[in-house]
Amino acid sequence: MPDPTESGRPAADLIHAAGPADAAWWRHAVIYQIYPRSWADADGDGIGDLPGVTARLDYLKALGVDAVWFSPFYKSPQADAGYDVADYRDIDGLFGTLADADAMVARAHELGLKVIVDLVPNHTSDEHEWFQAALAAGPGSPERDRYIFRDGKGPDGDLPPNDWHSVFGGDGWTRVTEADGSPGQWYLHLFDTKQPDLNWDNPEIGDEFESILRFWLDRGIDGFRVDVAHGLIKEKGLPDYDVELHILDGELKPGAPMPPMWDQDAVHDVYRRWHSVLAGYGEPDRILVAEAWVRPQERAVRYVRPDEMHQAFNFDFLKAQWTAAELREVITSSLEAADSVGAPSTWVLSNHDVVRHASRLGLPVGERQPNGISATDPQPDRALGLRRARAATTLMLALPGGAYLYQGEELGLPDSTDMPGEFRQDPTFLRTKGKEIGRDGCRVPIPWQKDAPSLGFGPTEATWLPQPAVYGDYAVDQQDGVEGSTLELYRTLLRCRRERDLGTGGLRAAEGFGDDVVALVNTGQGVPTLVVANLGSEPVALPEGATVVVASGDLTDDGLVPTDTTVWASF
Ligand code: NOJ
Repeated sequence: MPDPTESGRPAADLIHAAGPADAAWWRHAVIYQIYPRSWADADGDGIGDLPGVTARLDYLKALGVDAVWFSPFYKSPQADAGYDVADYRDIDGLFGTLADADAMVARAHELGLKVIVDLVPNHTSDEHEWFQAALAAGPGSPERDRYIFRDGKGPDGDLPPNDWHSVFGGDGWTRVTEADGSPGQWYLHLFDTKQPDLNWDNPEIGDEFESILRFWLDRGIDGFRVDVAHGLIKEKGLPDYDVELHILDGELKPGAPMPPMWDQDAVHDVYRRWHSVLAGYGEPDRILVAEAWVRPQERAVRYVRPDEMHQAFNFDFLKAQWTAAELREVITSSLEAADSVGAPSTWVLSNHDVVRHASRLGLPVGERQPNGISATDPQPDRALGLRRARAATTLMLALPGGAYLYQGEELGLPDSTDMPGEFRQDPTFLRTKGKEIGRDGCRVPIPWQKDAPSLGFGPTEATWLPQPAVYGDYAVDQQDGVEGSTLELYRTLLRCRRERDLGTGGLRAAEGFGDDVVALVNTGQGVPTLVVANLGSEPVALPEGATVVVASGDLTDDGLVPTDTTVWASF
């Protein structure tokens, strides 16, 4: 129903009620994801590091984000780019030292930026001392009970204990050789062979992770992004499930039951315990963010009930096709689901596991979104992708709740789509023998300066993945201060989002627009913003008297909003 207090202006059905202006920081924060290998390299070895990050934190302050989330920087053999942790209490030499981490956190805090670190509780590295001890100790030992070891099937035990697949392709089990050289038990790894799953039914694991949380909280960390948060507990008896698993999607078809390795009720006990550990640190809130690939949304929001995590990634928004109907539906249902448990919704378009949205949105609408793009695949339309990416971000940053940005999206960076196979390092590419291209294309080192070695990523030419030729044109120094650049668009969006209180605002559908338009009013804290995203083929008029605050692209000469453009307006 239209709201009579809004004097007939285009605000209608309430989708989400405004929160208080002084809501906790994480209810409206914009959080920037740093993928440490690829952001800034201080020592010139071609891999980003913490001193490189510290030196460039001012850039993030100027961008206008509230917090930084770091993909793992712990000691690791890097079989899955650090998501295979060998020591949760130390920094990998590639990235620096604990002292470097402390210096980075101190500098971030000086600048008023919160710091969130990645926590990987589902699996360790096979080089973790616990797994090495498990191998040495043999079947039936307490050391083996920290992981999921089972005898194999068949007369010689040479068949895996069940038919589960690895998310990265191939079997979910690997057989070990026992200390006496005989073929031995099998261990479960839902990801790479080098990432054995922990046995969360063993209380020792819970105690160890509480201690790891405290280790980082005591160093001043503001929160944790929890990797594979839905995977820690497996269904009792490990029942067969012969369905391929994929990162962020695959089996999670709407309406399908959750597979036996995901979303078991007992995971919630873990997060209740962690919640109280964090709460013990007092104000301002330290937070837990769930990476949980769970459907439907009603089940996903169970991770953010008041005594569990604070936020969960909203992958439905990331996976929505570029149609107004789908975006409207996802926005409405996400807010409804989050509101049902009193949590903020979150919004994200890119991360280190998906094709960057500037490339993804340059592919035909309606098709399955690829896991990586290679030179022999259909290539995205780069200009169209960028145009839509800018429009998508302008829509996203107008939505109430928390928002996540992935490094380089503020430059409009496309994926590397022509990387030769020999450079690829994602275990998905290796385990599927190239059938799945994998995630290296979105992980390429960031271009800072067009005419510098490694495009300013570090002091030398070295980069752990090759930078595509076009990246120079996207470099920070090519966009800084340049009107209309994607970098300046992000800066303006973040400033206006803050000034107009869009993160804590309420949301209404706006009336008077066609089906191909996502038209919303964010009420802010009393000063409303009209948001119009035009996904149709014809330009769209703003209501009379509306004044454009920011637009993702140029308007037509007569002031209309063209196709694939989003506008914020005051009215
Ligand atoms: C999700 C992370 O985002 C991804 O990069 C990683 O490969 C898997 N979890 C396994 O840890």
